[in-house]
Amino acid sequence: MRQNIYDDPEFFEYYHRLRSTGITYNDFVEQPALMGMLPELQDRQVLDMGCGSGQLAAYMIGQGAAHVTGADISARMLSLAAEHPKIRYIHGPMEELDFAAESFDLIVSSLAFHYVEDYEALMDRIARWLHPGGHLVFSTEHPVTTAKLDMDGWVEDQQGQRLHYALDNYSEEGIRHTRWVVEDVVKYHRTLSTLLNGMIRHGLQIEQVNEPEPIPGAVDKMPTLVHEWRKPSFIIFRAVKPV
Ligand SMILES: C[S@@+](CC[C@H](N)C(=O)[O-])C[C@H]1O[C@@H](n2cnc3c(N)ncnc32)[C@H](O)[C@@H]1O
Repeated sequence: MRQNIYDDPEFFEYYHRLRSTGITYNDFVEQPALMGMLPELQDRQVLDMGCGSGQLAAYMIGQGAAHVTGADISARMLSLAAEHPKIRYIHGPMEELDFAAESFDLIVSSLAFHYVEDYEALMDRIARWLHPGGHLVFSTEHPVTTAKLDMDGWVEDQQGQRLHYALDNYSEEGIRHTRWVVEDVVKYHRTLSTLLNGMIRHGLQIEQVNEPEPIPGAVDKMPTLVHEWRKPSFIIFRAVKPV
């Protein structure tokens, strides 16, 4: 099942407003870690899968990338992206992208692969599209977060204090129906071994795995981040296609 939840007006409105605050898990946990894992960008040809409003694409151009192709299924998200002569935006599902072999030096994806059902096919195509020596860097929701069937893992006491996180259904991979802003947001749960072996099977060498923690000072601005030390929200991988 392929869903385009970011084009749902209510979801988009909420998400856009949230990201505009600059006080989000993206700003304080995921984006700093992912940016820190990017390889040298100078003169690189880059693909950003699930690029959203193009923030990361613009950052990578600012860091010297020669060209970024950004693809996203959501027209509303792409409508926020600023035009740039070195960025080409493609409106469509990443499952239908088609490029020549060895088209990119770097393929990135920030928090979009958990919306994709067929991870094996994704890794197969990414491995083909990378130049030898090229990198894949992607973040996804942590398997501990996506495991439980309703993805609602925090167990609270009667006062709403978080007691602990319930891990369940871990080996039951596949679709998850969860509520975030709207009902029935669809995501896909994969175990850690599936995430790692998918890259390995397609010939990619894993260079770094990161379960990011909040950046210093973030908890003062966003107190709920204290729970990131109890249960990680994200995991980020960096892999290389051998020369
Ligand atoms: C959490 S947002 C992240 C956006 C952006 N990468 C960022 O970090 O700001 C996830 C993005 O993935 C996109 N997306 C979800 N499923 C997709 C698919 N099958 N193909 C392409 N984009 C997809 C959504 O439309 C949304 O823009």
